[in-house]
Amino acid sequence: MEIILAKSAGYCFGVNQAVEMVEEALLKNEEAIYTLGPLIHNRQVTDELDRRGAHIISDVEGIKNGIIAVRSHGVGEDIMSAIKDGGNRLIDATCPYVKKIHKRVNEYHKKGYQIFIIGDADHPEVIGINGWCNYEGIILGNKNSVPRTAKYDKICVVAQTTMNLGVFHEISQEILRIYPEAVILNTICNATKTRQEETAALAAKADCMVVIGGLHSSNTVKLAEISRAHCKKTLHIETAAELDLNDIKTCDIIGITAGASTPHWIIKEVINKMTKSFEEMLKDSEMEASYEESFRKLGRGSVVAGTV
Ligand code: F3S
Repeated sequence: MEIILAKSAGYCFGVNQAVEMVEEALLKNEEAIYTLGPLIHNRQVTDELDRRGAHIISDVEGIKNGIIAVRSHGVGEDIMSAIKDGGNRLIDATCPYVKKIHKRVNEYHKKGYQIFIIGDADHPEVIGINGWCNYEGIILGNKNSVPRTAKYDKICVVAQTTMNLGVFHEISQEILRIYPEAVILNTICNATKTRQEETAALAAKADCMVVIGGLHSSNTVKLAEISRAHCKKTLHIETAAELDLNDIKTCDIIGITAGASTPHWIIKEVINKMTKSFEEMLKDSEMEASYEESFRKLGRGSVVAGTV
């Protein structure tokens, strides 16, 4: 059995930054910290943070003089103001890439452009982006949702950072067909693109793919969809406990990838479960060192590829 772990599996830069910022604040402060919405789309991590004093709130109303963390998805301009107006200390863990979208949307909106946002209307990142153009943006989930009859002088198009690249191109092309002057900004994050490309390549050669991450994490769900398109036997699990070893026992090559909000310890638990006698097998081999070393580097471009 060969297990190949995608280079990019696990926390992306923005999620890592958000978790680190809140963990650091927990160490420095005695008082509770509130995160506006789950800090990341991973229940195991948010449960642990809650236990340590970072509690999830759904609204800033009524929170005064506290500490409020804005997660990597970001929020609208009005929410940022409400946090500060309440005398709260802000931990702004908005991913820098999302911040850049806020800035561009705000600039174009002020210049009179109609903003189109390609993404999922219910996704917090999309709601947050819309909050930088006074919630006047039009959200496009597929090419059929592109307005056909309305007249817009100027259009600026941005995308949810985790949008599938193929869908983004399809919708963009439809927009350009109807509004050839539209300004299209490809704001899909490289972390997403890299994960999606690696997943497709790995799934194409694997007998079975295990995609680890929150069942409600949009970027993980998209990885599972891409994987399924190349490898029928794709298992989407949140934790090692959900992995049924019977599902993989006949597979020669098992590919593993994980969403941007999946911590490395969960990935490690899954691999350990797959290779139940792994530790004994590695006891005196050099692989143990390289396995541990690879995990230390995970998320920074390293690979764990082992044959067990
Ligand atoms: Fe940021 Fe990209 Fe992650 S936008 S939160 S680094 S997926």
